[in-house]
Amino acid sequence: MKVIALDGPAGSGKSTIAGMLAEKIGFLHADSGAIYRTLTLASMQKLGAGNSPQDFGELFQKAVLDPDQLGIQVVLADGKQSNRIGQADVGREIRTPEVTSRIRFIADNVPCRNTVNRLLREFAEQTGVVADGRDMGTVVFPDTPNKFFLEASVEVRARRRYEEMLGQGSSSQSLAEIERDIARRDQEDRSRAVGALRKADDAILIDTSDLSRDGVLSRILAHIQYRF
Ligand code: CDP
Repeated sequence: MKVIALDGPAGSGKSTIAGMLAEKIGFLHADSGAIYRTLTLASMQKLGAGNSPQDFGELFQKAVLDPDQLGIQVVLADGKQSNRIGQADVGREIRTPEVTSRIRFIADNVPCRNTVNRLLREFAEQTGVVADGRDMGTVVFPDTPNKFFLEASVEVRARRRYEEMLGQGSSSQSLAEIERDIARRDQEDRSRAVGALRKADDAILIDTSDLSRDGVLSRILAHIQYRF
């Protein structure tokens, strides 16, 4: 298997960098967060989106939903990962704050994590992958020699996310709200019992706060141990 594991907190730049890197070296960008998001949206559609996050969590646990029964499909289409519910690509719908606030109910659930991990490993059996997430280097692909952990301050990460949303038209959240949400998600992601956000001991740490995208990319390329 040829795998580059890219982990880090929300807004650290890993999705952007993973996309650029995958394109440059002809690997697939495997976005694990998108799979968690798709499972969350599919659960919301099944359980009703009007629930509070608390209700949603309880319902989810009581219903013991089987992720495989939610109708989600994560497939390779034109060399890219397509996240679908039924036949519909939900790549945009999975990025709303409503989905983000409920992801933890899925991400804390070990059978759900196992499903996501299985899908990612299936991709890696078919093609070279740049896998982006929280636990790629620690849990999903612990044997790959190419592990990177991207970091940046909460302020920098919130600003990036805010500018990304403005770039897409408008932001439904203020900069302060985004910063608060990111800090809360950091805390949840770092304290999760299984699959927590953590740098693998052998991962290379890159602080992206003062680096351009190309700067981050060239650092990673300098360390990768495959020949292309
Ligand atoms: O893009 P952003 O950084 O907002 O997050 P994402 O990569 O789409 O992941 C969303 C959430 O899914 C994270 O905050 C984690 O709670 C969860 N996740 C996870 O538990 N394990 C992963 N490998 C990837 C994401």
